[in-house]
Amino acid sequence: MKYRLADPMIDDHQIKMVEDVLKSKMLVHGASCETFEADIAAYLGLEKEQVAVTSSCTASLHLALLSLNIPKNKAIMVPSFTFPATVNVVEQIGATPIFVDVNEDDYTMSVDSLRNTYDSFKKDYDIVGIIVVHEFGASADMNQIMAFARGNGLFVIEDAACAFGTEFEKSKVGLLSDIGCFSFHPRKAITTGEGGAVVANSKDLIKRCKIFRNHGMDMVDGHIDFVVPGLNYRLTNFQAVLGIGQLQHFDDWISKRRALQLVYRAYLKHPMIHLPKDQEGHTWQSFMIVLEDRVNRDMLKENLKLKEIESNYGAYSLLETQYYNEKYGNLYAEKTPISTKLYRQGLCLPLHQGLSEEDIETICNEVLLCLEASYGY
Ligand SMILES: Cc1ncc(COP(=O)(O)O)c(C=O)c1O
Repeated sequence: MKYRLADPMIDDHQIKMVEDVLKSKMLVHGASCETFEADIAAYLGLEKEQVAVTSSCTASLHLALLSLNIPKNKAIMVPSFTFPATVNVVEQIGATPIFVDVNEDDYTMSVDSLRNTYDSFKKDYDIVGIIVVHEFGASADMNQIMAFARGNGLFVIEDAACAFGTEFEKSKVGLLSDIGCFSFHPRKAITTGEGGAVVANSKDLIKRCKIFRNHGMDMVDGHIDFVVPGLNYRLTNFQAVLGIGQLQHFDDWISKRRALQLVYRAYLKHPMIHLPKDQEGHTWQSFMIVLEDRVNRDMLKENLKLKEIESNYGAYSLLETQYYNEKYGNLYAEKTPISTKLYRQGLCLPLHQGLSEEDIETICNEVLLCLEASYGY
């Protein structure tokens, strides 16, 4: 495929850094992970005790919930349009997810839907928190969401899997709530293969995350003990050095993504295409267009594939996935209409730092030609 959705850039210097770690045989969590934590902290304007690197964003979300010590049978509000990991961790700690619809233009949690859903579920569920997703690198409205959460005594976790570096009103996301989680999967702007991080203003929360990350191990009276039933969510040293190398390019790569999305915007002015909102601080992990209902999205995807252009759904309307539909579908009369629309008609187009403006122009021309061939304009 000539035009990939994502294409991690790993240069010879990064390969050499990984090779050196492999040759050192210091493979598991160690000094390189700590350096990566310090680098992430410096990038986000934090101290290194406020960052824990992990094996994935899913691990980070699970650690965030464990560190908050949420009793069983509570309920947590989540967006209904996201990757399942956001909600799977809620199920894993024995809590009930309450699904909130999203905005049509930035695909993040709708504050109106948050309020209405809270009002209709609060009689029957003990709602204790919100997991908000900064979808595809767009920040959710953190002023309103935090005001609502604090007004109702709810904790907030930011699932910023796709939004490392994103800013909301000039502040980095992940730090605008109780605890934030990032992914370094290869579909993201920087990668460690699999990998993630959890960050917080509270050093105590991060200390708890680190204990849960490493089997529940802590030092007690100068000796090793196991103080909680932890897991193994550690990153390896060879993944961490890759992250250290990648982070050095991150600002340039984000600038490139921002410039490329403007090219999409300029060329994809078409009555059948709705473009995502262009907001300050967006890091454009993905560029998802939404097609009018009469456009056959899957056919367009297949036609683009014939032209060597990869495209895909953006995220999932979780109430339409088997597990969540069977378990919770009957609780939602109208379900979540915007999530349904985004799931059925959304299409992510290639966007990564390895593409040129001419590549984006070519991709746009092919999209427009496919629409013209099928719908006459
Ligand atoms: C919103 C969201 N949360 C969580 C995840 C899971 O991230 P990871 O693959 O690092 O576990 C993803 C993955 O794409 C995601 O999009």
